[in-house]
Amino acid sequence: MPVKIAPSILSADFARLAEAVAAAERGGADWIHVDVMDGHFVPNLTIGPPVVAALRRVTELPLDVHLMIEEPARFIEAFAEAGATTLTVHVEADPHLHRTLTRIRELGVSPGVAINPATPLSALEDALPYVDLILVMSVNPGFGGQRFIPTSTEKIARLRRTLEERHLWGVEIEVDGGIAPATAGDVAAAGASVLVAGAAVFGAGGDVGERIAELRAAARVEGDAPPR
Ligand code: DX5
Ligand code: ZN
Repeated sequence: MPVKIAPSILSADFARLAEAVAAAERGGADWIHVDVMDGHFVPNLTIGPPVVAALRRVTELPLDVHLMIEEPARFIEAFAEAGATTLTVHVEADPHLHRTLTRIRELGVSPGVAINPATPLSALEDALPYVDLILVMSVNPGFGGQRFIPTSTEKIARLRRTLEERHLWGVEIEVDGGIAPATAGDVAAAGASVLVAGAAVFGAGGDVGERIAELRAAARVEGDAPPR
């Protein structure tokens, strides 16, 4: 299966989000990745439900909302109402993960769980049956443009094996942080099915569609059909 490319608008011009999203959509993006930060779980602040609602009005693409916030359950109704397609909460930020993930699904949204670089995969084990997506952070969350942490590749491979052993075929493995043409191939080969990229799409200059095409080409795993 070819990987999906999810450009992160964190590296786009926040005064021109509609244009950035339109360029990504024209350029073949599969999802739009939206980074929500609260200044507590991560040392940065970004956006909330009103911006998700505004994006929902200007694109048909799935909105992949990554909640880097403490106690995410307080906000899932608001993000569902705003039009999020997936809502991903951090395993480190929620002691009541089962309840939160179940609630997200009840709201008609796809539940995801994210895991930081130094959190062991075992922390996710009992949440796997309740999610459509696992987001493996390959940098410490909070900022765009950081360097990919190389041990993330092996973590993705171990997670892919676990999903196979447990017959969880439909669950996406998303990787987020430092993804560029130089890192995309290895993470895709290890089993990532969704690649998030901010700096490599919106911060690298030139045409957004070309940047997306480069990532897709770098991520092609042997056996995939060649691009049309
Ligand atoms: C970081 C965010 C990422 C970020 C990735 O905390 O979760 O989605 O936008 O940015 P790049 O691709 O620039 O590393
Ligand atoms: Zn993210």
